[in-house]
Amino acid sequence: MSYWKSKFKIRDLEFPRFISGPLDGYTDSPFRKLVRKFSKDELLYTEMRHVACVANENDEHKSIKFDLCERPLNYQFAANKIDFIDRAVELVLEKGVDLIDLNIGCPAKNIVSSGSGSALMDDLPRLEEILKHFRKKIEHIPFTVKFRAGFKVENALDVAKLVQDCGVDAIAIHPRLQTQKFSGIPDYGLAGKVKAQSCIPVLISGGIVDFETAKMVYEQSGVDGYLIGQAMYSKPWKLKELYEHSLGNSFEVDNKVILECALEHLDNLLEYYGREGFYMFRKHVPYYLKGMESASDAKNIIFSTDSVDVVKNELVRFLTK
Ligand SMILES: Cc1cc2nc3c(=O)[nH]c(=O)nc-3n(C[C@H](O)[C@H](O)[C@H](O)COP(=O)(O)O)c2cc1C
Repeated sequence: MSYWKSKFKIRDLEFPRFISGPLDGYTDSPFRKLVRKFSKDELLYTEMRHVACVANENDEHKSIKFDLCERPLNYQFAANKIDFIDRAVELVLEKGVDLIDLNIGCPAKNIVSSGSGSALMDDLPRLEEILKHFRKKIEHIPFTVKFRAGFKVENALDVAKLVQDCGVDAIAIHPRLQTQKFSGIPDYGLAGKVKAQSCIPVLISGGIVDFETAKMVYEQSGVDGYLIGQAMYSKPWKLKELYEHSLGNSFEVDNKVILECALEHLDNLLEYYGREGFYMFRKHVPYYLKGMESASDAKNIIFSTDSVDVVKNELVRFLTK
């Protein structure tokens, strides 16, 4: 079987090679439900949530509010110390997920200033303590880590070794430093070095927008799987598109599919967030209409109304004309 057709394994779980990576504010539960219309078996990540936030949440438990149809799901945590890990993990396991991930790659100021995210790549003793604590608590399902090339200085190879030695089941590298945030060409050669020294599956995140890039990254690194990030924006069909292209099949969506997805996305947001979901939908609209001629009029109408019906009617008018 070809590499692209075959699945990769994390412990005893098998997944297709294209994965929906975590994007806070985008790949939330309403969006993940849409992805499932096109991709049934693919692994999806939740957005990052701090263990303290999950452990201390009120009765609503919003951070673990998701639909079981989103599984297989990798629930992503951030942590800066071992406090709250036990309770947070118990709540997530009770809800039901397939894997748990620790984010040690987030570059955001408010995250690294508390010692979470990529700051942990600069504090290996603390990282080791946290990894061992998670590992002990998560016995029955895979535990994964998402990391970067390094914090200020590249140390991905040391971190990957530490992570593996702590019993982690798979790693995902976004091969940029914290200082690079999301810009610059990801160092796919570094991902290849991590892959060469690792006995566990290595996934990659960064700059994969189409099958051609994925193929190029495979040739440079030999990694096992591909986290798709910003290329998923308002494209719930993206994993399916990549898979079909990897098999040499054509795959295109027409305006009818785009309309169905946009309307369902809005409904999912309203159901999940209530009225707030209506305003959250606005940031997705430009991506649904991207590249379409004279979309600015439709966007102006959509951005200036408080009416769900007006938004829906305008989407129907614009995408069926
Ligand atoms: C708006 C936004 C939100 C993100 N949220 C998360 C997150 O919650 N957890 C995480 O591990 N990475 C997060 N990332 C990083 C992405 O998962 C990914 O590593 C990065 O965007 C590079 O991949 P891409 O070029 O495919 O987007 C975020 C990135 C962006 C742009």
